[in-house]
Amino acid sequence: MNRRHGGHSSIGEADDHGDDEADGHGHHGPERGWLAGFRYFKLVRKFWRSEVNNAVIAIVDPRPGEQLIDIGAGMGAGAIVAVKDIGRGSVTAVDPLPGMRLLLRARCLLPTRWGRIKVVRGTAESMPVPSGVADAAYATNALHHFDDKAAALVEVARVTKPGARVVFVEEQFTDPRHPSYERFGGDDHESHDHRFHSIDLGAMDEMATTAGFNVDQAEDTLVAGLPVKLIRLRRN
Ligand SMILES: C[S@@+](CC[C@H](N)C(=O)[O-])C[C@H]1O[C@@H](n2cnc3c(N)ncnc32)[C@H](O)[C@@H]1O
Repeated sequence: MNRRHGGHSSIGEADDHGDDEADGHGHHGPERGWLAGFRYFKLVRKFWRSEVNNAVIAIVDPRPGEQLIDIGAGMGAGAIVAVKDIGRGSVTAVDPLPGMRLLLRARCLLPTRWGRIKVVRGTAESMPVPSGVADAAYATNALHHFDDKAAALVEVARVTKPGARVVFVEEQFTDPRHPSYERFGGDDHESHDHRFHSIDLGAMDEMATTAGFNVDQAEDTLVAGLPVKLIRLRRN
């Protein structure tokens, strides 16, 4: 489905009814309830807007009319920026946590965002999105949550069009150059109560290639002056 020229369009709308069911394709992630979101609220300022999200959207380079998917959109720090560039296109914001979706829906009540950001329940491994619809997809600081990265990459390949751009950015809080290094103390998240899976760029490269992507970039670099792992893919 490509409704670039058909008014405000949304690639998630067929599956999103209110606080929707994540009945996407293939994989069903574990339950993620309201309580699971509480730990994020202390980080609300960063999740509201952030330089790294602005920079990620600049890398994604959204164009007028495009259909985008923000995977693990959280409170929408990326989606809110991306929607400004796409004219009559739309952003589908996928997140498993109801608290995140609720806040993002509230942010979408502004006339400039209304109907242009579609907030849906789902995970990277299972998105309630039709096949072959997205011009670009991105995930900022969400990749480390994906339980099954190989399945997630297959799912991202399913929902994107040939030639689509895919960007994953993960801030590296364990890098002493990161300004929040002291705060997180080089913590590798092992002791946190949320799931954390470290990012192996070589493995990502291999899984992305298998899933049907060309790997344009997979490296440790700086984005918005912060140490990150940056992965840029192009769907074959
Ligand atoms: C650290 S937050 C980042 C949110 C947002 N992208 C940002 O940069 O502000 C990580 C987000 O990933 C979501 N998440 C957790 N597991 C996920 C999964 N398997 N697939 C997609 N998103 C997931 C969480 O609910 C959370 O909103």
